Amino acid sequence: MGELRMTLVDSYGRIHRDIRVSLTDRCNLRCTYCMPHDFAAWMPSDELLTTEELMTVLEIGVSLGIEEVRLTGGEPLLRPDIVDIVARINSLPNPPKLSLTTNGIRLAELAQPLKDAGLERVNVSLDTLDAERFKKMTFRDRFDDVMKGLKAAKDAELAPVKINTVLMPGVNDDEAVALVKWSLDEGFKLRFIEQMPLDAGGIWDRLTMKTADDIFAALNPVFSLTPVETRGSAPAEEFLINGGPETVGIIASVTRPFCGACDRLRLTADGQLRSCLFATKEMDLRDVLRSTELTEEQKRSEIEARFSKTVISKLPGHGINDPSFIQPARPMSAIGG
Ligand code: 5AD
Ligand code: SF4
Repeated sequence: MGELRMTLVDSYGRIHRDIRVSLTDRCNLRCTYCMPHDFAAWMPSDELLTTEELMTVLEIGVSLGIEEVRLTGGEPLLRPDIVDIVARINSLPNPPKLSLTTNGIRLAELAQPLKDAGLERVNVSLDTLDAERFKKMTFRDRFDDVMKGLKAAKDAELAPVKINTVLMPGVNDDEAVALVKWSLDEGFKLRFIEQMPLDAGGIWDRLTMKTADDIFAALNPVFSLTPVETRGSAPAEEFLINGGPETVGIIASVTRPFCGACDRLRLTADGQLRSCLFATKEMDLRDVLRSTELTEEQKRSEIEARFSKTVISKLPGHGINDPSFIQPARPMSAIGG
């Protein structure tokens, strides 16, 4: 009889194939929906997984059926050995598909080295085309750096370059059409993401938030939008723009949650495995990795067991819309977007 390979199936039958890995909780921006601008509760650096520890976790994850790794932060390009991390993930046995979500600031220098190390593509977060507004929204004057980074990503063919945009009422919701036109001109794939209740500053408001329907209504008079029928586990609802082939995505995390098709796990920079952005419990993998009592073999089986337990404990949905919803204790920057 062949050995039964452990796979990451939860109690609702969802098979987990994707892990989002936060490489650091630091960031060179302070987007208001992500963290308070005066945030100071950074993880001490000795609490972050070392690259060696991270590779152990990912190698085990891949052996359990993980097929896709997305690197995130905070800002993942602040991790000093980011190029090396990409190269090492690509040389794992059965290398997973690999992408990275960044604010773009350091892409001007890193896009080509990352491409050479085997990175396939990038998602760049950008919420405005106006440098002054960018400064207000991020508390940093770095708009030009992002533009240079985007150009470098295009030149390095980190394709498709996807843009993630969060629209906030009275802040940048007047830019929906301009952002779509701009991304068409530049050859980027834009996706609007509904703002989720993850900001430690408590600025999220269900009543005024820009919903997927609002965004569609803003774009519809200007572009002809036809739905693309291939959603799968991908969170974006995609629309062909003026018949295509270009598309725009709208990610309705709050108003049309896609938890039923979720195949993701999350690893925080300090080595905690989570089943969801909104999970209230985590499994400590760092603790196992640093144990002085366990043998390497025992560490491996304990990490496998904790992957399993995390998946088994996964709830059917994020519950943002339940009256009893509790916002996670960590800001988005510390969980990983
Ligand atoms: N709601 C929705 N998206 C968010 N992001 C960060 N915080 C939030 C939030 N509260 C997004 C950023 C970025 C990705 C890492 O996560 O726009 O694209
Ligand atoms: Fe930094 Fe991204 Fe959070 Fe903005 S959303 S503060 S770029 S981690």
